[in-house]
Amino acid sequence: MPQRIEKALAEALARPSGASAPPKLAAALQHAIFPGGARVRPQLSLAVAEACGDDRPALSDAAAISIELIHCASLVHDDMACFDDADLRRGQPTVHTRFSEPIALLTGDALITLAFEVLAEAGAASPERLAPLILALARHTGMPHGICAGQGWESEPTVDLSLYHRAKTGALFVAATTMGAQAAGADPAPWVELGARIGEAFQVADDLRDALLSEEELGKPVGQDAIHDRPNAVSELGLRGAVQKLHDILSGAIASIPSCPGEARLCEIVSAQAKRLTPVEFARAVA
Ligand code: IPE
Ligand code: IPE
Ligand code: MG
Ligand code: MG
Repeated sequence: MPQRIEKALAEALARPSGASAPPKLAAALQHAIFPGGARVRPQLSLAVAEACGDDRPALSDAAAISIELIHCASLVHDDMACFDDADLRRGQPTVHTRFSEPIALLTGDALITLAFEVLAEAGAASPERLAPLILALARHTGMPHGICAGQGWESEPTVDLSLYHRAKTGALFVAATTMGAQAAGADPAPWVELGARIGEAFQVADDLRDALLSEEELGKPVGQDAIHDRPNAVSELGLRGAVQKLHDILSGAIASIPSCPGEARLCEIVSAQAKRLTPVEFARAVA
């Protein structure tokens, strides 16, 4: 599965390069995608596609990487000075630090349009699946429920933590599960809960990592939620409450997997992710 994702991403990134492309922007696009992070969203999307039969593998690949391209775009914008002003991402200088603010803004924009381009091209052979996939990707990226909405809440005086997390992080996980199903021709509705649960768990775990781990361990700055006074699970629930919430959400995630031919394999994948999201440091911090 990881090879499938890296290959599809490399092919996608070959498009906005070549002699006619502005070299700095082309290099910045590569920097934003390679080396990658955990690639958790495309893996989840492909796992659901496989659980649903994966009868159009090229479309499943396109759906999976379109989500990763949007995710990487959101990180480039999120690190810029006007958002979190972070200088490190995945152990490397962030795009605006390595290149410039204008190049970072354009990198995010170009990755978002590339995501739709990749999806539209792969979907040309499956027109009946294409429109719902494009709609899902747009809705989970934009307003009022997508990443844009999530980041937008940071400019409001009061924020509902759960609404903020659902839009900022959960939306793209719901895109991952539902678009994986849609790419394989399955009904997306039964897959919403799994995406929502993993997404919520993921953001609570990210808030705990931000509070408990080091910059060396994470490859990005830590303590950011406190520095920027962002609403987060640790300040709202305390360390113990946040760890408990993480366990509660994850225990429901596996139970929410719809019955389908690939159910057992998908349970294994979700359990492995759940383990990754609850490192020993969290248990130690509340012992
Ligand atoms: C980081 O996401 C941003 C959040 C939504 C918490 P990831 O932890 O998935 O980042 P990468 O892609 O692995 O670097
Ligand atoms: C990022 O959230 C989520 C996005 C939508 C980009 P954070 O700002 O909490 O994530 P990190 O800590 O920078 O990865
Ligand atoms: Mg942020
Ligand atoms: Mg950030």
